[in-house]
Amino acid sequence: QLPTKVKIVEVGPRDGLQNEALINGKAISAADKVALIELLSDAGVSYIESGSFVSPKWVPQMATSAEVFATIKRNSKVVYAALTPNMKGYEAAMAVNADEIAIFSAASESFSQKNINCSIEESIARFAPIIADAKKRNIKVRGYVSCVVGCPYEGDIAPEQVAMVAQKLHAMGCYEISLGDTIGIGTPASVTKMLQAVSARVPTAQLAVHFHDTYGQALTNIYAALQFGISVVDSAIAGLGGCPYAKGASGNVATEDVVYLLNGLGITTNIDFDKLLQAGWFISKKLGKPPTSKVSTAYLAQ
Ligand code: HMG
Ligand code: MG
Repeated sequence: QLPTKVKIVEVGPRDGLQNEALINGKAISAADKVALIELLSDAGVSYIESGSFVSPKWVPQMATSAEVFATIKRNSKVVYAALTPNMKGYEAAMAVNADEIAIFSAASESFSQKNINCSIEESIARFAPIIADAKKRNIKVRGYVSCVVGCPYEGDIAPEQVAMVAQKLHAMGCYEISLGDTIGIGTPASVTKMLQAVSARVPTAQLAVHFHDTYGQALTNIYAALQFGISVVDSAIAGLGGCPYAKGASGNVATEDVVYLLNGLGITTNIDFDKLLQAGWFISKKLGKPPTSKVSTAYLAQ
């Protein structure tokens, strides 16, 4: 049975833009990011991961996140979230009043090392003081698990391994666990197996799915997740994105395509579809390339 309502977690301004190539050595400007975030909120997107507080040497596109958070005109109905890898990043996010934060671990040791330069255990130990402080301030913490189906370095990942990491993040206090198919390799069969293992340890209502579309399977995997009872879906406007540490990773599934699917299924999102398309075209023009969203391309052709 499908959910009647789905929450879209828009990750374009973070996951999307973090992997866009620099143009003439320059990152996309803070002003353009702010404009994108405001267009998304005008379109009715209620949760926007608006930046990350990571090393600017590792991820130059996110170097202006503090400026972005300080500049956006906030809509009280929208949650503006920040990705934070450690205490330093968390403190920077708090200094600019991020509404929520997201921490991130992985189901693969090699990926954890390459992505955040520490083991899964070490990453979890790093998050404990962050979660404790966030609790004091009433800041909600979302947790990501990367490589939930496969890893660019280790190949297939056992569903049980994903479930263990998800359970740890949940037990530590993450209110929602976003399950990331970082390299987009899953199909409904492997995704459903993974969801079965995870939901044995974390309530399904507290799970979200985060699909990259590298192998073109994201929409069908989302449909499988909806049938499984998941009602929170991460996506990126215009299909922006990828991950700098995952070779061959393409963008996240496009928000426009997900909303088209949900509209067709009669599932409520409260998103204005036309305004959403315009937000996608705005950022795509800034990046000098068309959206990878098929839906967006089809509407343009009409
Ligand atoms: P490290 O080198 O191990 O950290 O990096 P360190 O503590 O030794 O610090 C080294 C330098 O980084 C120092 O500067 C620190 O000040 C600085 P230096 O003295 O050399 O000038 N530093 C920081 N600067 C700014 N903000 C910070 C910060 N922390 C340290 N928060 C670190 C560890 C985690 C920082 C690094 O590995 C890093 O930034 N990695 C980037 C990770 C990242 O952004 N990955 C992409 C996001 S995850 C993702 O996309 C997956 C997801 O979408 C789900 C999915 O698809 O699966 C979520
Ligand atoms: Mg991602």
